[in-house]
Amino acid sequence: MEHKLKITIVGGGSTWTPGILNAFIRHMNTLPVTELVLFDSNAERQAPIGEYAQLLFRLHAPEVKVTYTTSKDAAYDSVDFVMVQIRTGGYPMREKDEKIPMEYGVLGQETCGPGGFAYGIRSLKDMIEIVKDVRKHSKNAWILNYTNPAAIVAYGLQREFPDDKRILNICDQPINLINSFAKLLDVPAESLEPTYFGLNHFGWFTHLYNQNGQDLLPLLKERIKDKGFLPADAAERDPSWLDTYALVQDMVHDFDEYVPSTYLQYYIYPEYKASKLNPDYTRANEVMDGREKQVFSECRRAVSQNSLDGIHVVKNEAHGDMILSIAEAIYLNKNAYYIIMVKNEGIIENLPDDAVVEVTCLLGSRGPKPFHTGPVSVFYKALLENQYAYERLTCEAYFEGSYTKALQALTLNRTVTDAKKARKILDRLIEENKGYWPKLT
Ligand code: G6P
Ligand code: MN
Repeated sequence: MEHKLKITIVGGGSTWTPGILNAFIRHMNTLPVTELVLFDSNAERQAPIGEYAQLLFRLHAPEVKVTYTTSKDAAYDSVDFVMVQIRTGGYPMREKDEKIPMEYGVLGQETCGPGGFAYGIRSLKDMIEIVKDVRKHSKNAWILNYTNPAAIVAYGLQREFPDDKRILNICDQPINLINSFAKLLDVPAESLEPTYFGLNHFGWFTHLYNQNGQDLLPLLKERIKDKGFLPADAAERDPSWLDTYALVQDMVHDFDEYVPSTYLQYYIYPEYKASKLNPDYTRANEVMDGREKQVFSECRRAVSQNSLDGIHVVKNEAHGDMILSIAEAIYLNKNAYYIIMVKNEGIIENLPDDAVVEVTCLLGSRGPKPFHTGPVSVFYKALLENQYAYERLTCEAYFEGSYTKALQALTLNRTVTDAKKARKILDRLIEENKGYWPKLT
């Protein structure tokens, strides 16, 4: 039979898409796509990136059929992999998510705190619709989901589609961190075997084995304490990301048992973080002024000169390689280590079964095979139970249209904690998310 591999990128007009397209070219031998479809509900954002895609493949892999579309039928018919990276409301809504909480003295962040809560409720509706649409056309397609806030999206999808075993929820941050650990330890990232537990953007590395079975985590903690912490791709990072990585040193200093995800700083130091963020210029502004301008102008320039000479669509090519390596692990049944979101069901013994936890898994063609972690100790259990309850109540607020559950969720969130403040922020978010959120009563 003729070889066929159709892949669709949902959110084809995303600033992340050109980096993924470039990676497809580098991975043609290992992930030999025959048809690539870019799908976006926003035709205006899709067109320049779609045209860039067609130019890129015409020059480097002309055998691949590349199209861009706003039609679900074209996107989802007989597809093998659907990569989903949507942002409901776009960067203008991310800017609101980050700025509104700061008016009330609470930190503003894309996926954490009230910003992540608002974004979560926006994402759920679109994500559920996408899964239903994909399944109408392609029962067996792998849906690789990167849409944020991934913890809330993954929990909501698991509630809505409990029997669907081909939705993979995965985040690139654990891989970013392993690459950064490898650099600090001066060892190849591929040689490291991590153990990790938590929820998405809320977890800890407990061990980091090398190929001789030696645990390098104690050495890593010493290095972080002595030298600080930088992303592996520091030269390509904006200042706010360097600040975020730098604070890992404080977390390791304060709680030196494990090495935390960068995102824990928002929950561990909520007041400090709120005092350090600039309420007038947030990460959304940095992205709109940086990545977004570069991506769209470079795509347009490439298309108008009809060549890739002197074109730099993305600052950082590593992200695209990461995304493709995940699809490859499934396609080639690699059984490689990845840190993935999966339904708990006893993996972290003393957390609820229905929690969607993030743990080390082997990833192959039958999906993720998680490693059990056993019980977690009291400090971590308390933090995780609290965050799980917040995420679950956020999803239930969405499914049930419940104002009370939304208020409970925000009150539980460690970045908020005060119910009067939670109510003020909630009421404001309801106003600002009209048209995106269900009615909460
Ligand atoms: C990391 C996280 C993603 C998040 C992204 C934001 O990669 O894992 O979940 O969306 O950072 O990056 P940005 O450059 O848009 O701030
Ligand atoms: Mn993430």
